[in-house]
Amino acid sequence: MKRLKDKVAIVTGAGRGIGREICLYLASEGARIIVNDLGGDRDGSGEGKVADQVVEEIKAIGSDAAANYDSVGTVEGGQNIFNTAIDAFGRADILINNAGVLRDRTLYNMEESDWDVIMEVHLKGHYNCTRPLVRHIRDNNVLGCRIINMSSVSGLFGNFGQVNYGAAKEGIAGFTRSLALEVAKYKCTVNTISPGAATRLTIDLMEAAGRKYDENDWTQGPGQIAPVVAWLCAEEASEITSQIIHSQGGILGIMQQPAIIQSFTTDDMWTLDQLDKLIPEMVETKKYHDQEVEEKGAPKKV
Ligand SMILES: NC(=O)c1ccc[n+]([C@@H]2O[C@H](COP(=O)([O-])OP(=O)(O)OC[C@H]3O[C@@H](n4cnc5c(N)ncnc54)[C@H](O)[C@@H]3O)[C@@H](O)[C@H]2O)c1
Repeated sequence: MKRLKDKVAIVTGAGRGIGREICLYLASEGARIIVNDLGGDRDGSGEGKVADQVVEEIKAIGSDAAANYDSVGTVEGGQNIFNTAIDAFGRADILINNAGVLRDRTLYNMEESDWDVIMEVHLKGHYNCTRPLVRHIRDNNVLGCRIINMSSVSGLFGNFGQVNYGAAKEGIAGFTRSLALEVAKYKCTVNTISPGAATRLTIDLMEAAGRKYDENDWTQGPGQIAPVVAWLCAEEASEITSQIIHSQGGILGIMQQPAIIQSFTTDDMWTLDQLDKLIPEMVETKKYHDQEVEEKGAPKKV
């Protein structure tokens, strides 16, 4: 029995890389797909019709699909992407907010346009594409939808040369946590993926770091994220929401969420002398906590 039979999924930035693999996997589980892709270059410039080829690939494996070439970076684009699903298949059950570009520079050298493009495609792209779906859910009392958002260790951990991308990707994790609360009454789950894979966004960085790209190695390829996304979209994941699931290098993991791990209180306003003691103590406690988390998080073979 296919797990996504009768479902319609919208996948943004789905003409290549991780998005394409997600489309093919969801389709193999019976979903019909809206393949959105602006088809531009890695820095967000240009456009093209790369979505068409993925539509053909989906049809070749016996499912159905329609292409959309709008940018996720505008409100109109987001609405058109959603409308494509309703026009083609009369419904929308799953949204994978995957489209992405890079403009890596340190802040010293970062132009306003480098900041704006990243915010527009990644963070505002999530707003633009998700609002039409959640309005549809509310207005028609649609139950059991799935929304999956793409974050990155660049934001969740931090990365040199990516303050724009890192801010957007951390913002996406925050978007997920708040949206999960808002749509819970419609039994809609919202989760974040922290992916990592060799795609046109990363192959050159990987090779510059001395790692050779091997397209036959599943632990490197973008295909590894697709089954994880498909599982989260299925009925089996109806109770899983507001989580950050990590899938990279053949490792599947779950990230911790921000939490207070030590705290103090006092009757009067904090004094600097008190803080001389308390803040270093908290930082020290956190070091032990981080070490414990790191040990627990080491991959176990299954
Ligand atoms: N590859 C990794 O290791 C990695 C790591 C962390 C996060 N991510 C995230 O995963 C997602 C997919 O990345 P990928 O590695 O597959 O990259 P990719 O470049 O192979 O695919 C991204 C796709 O998004 C499309 N796109 C870009 N701007 C768009 C727009 N405005 N509207 C519609 N489509 C647009 C591109 O044309 C491209 O086909 C991105 O959000 C990326 O930030 C990837």
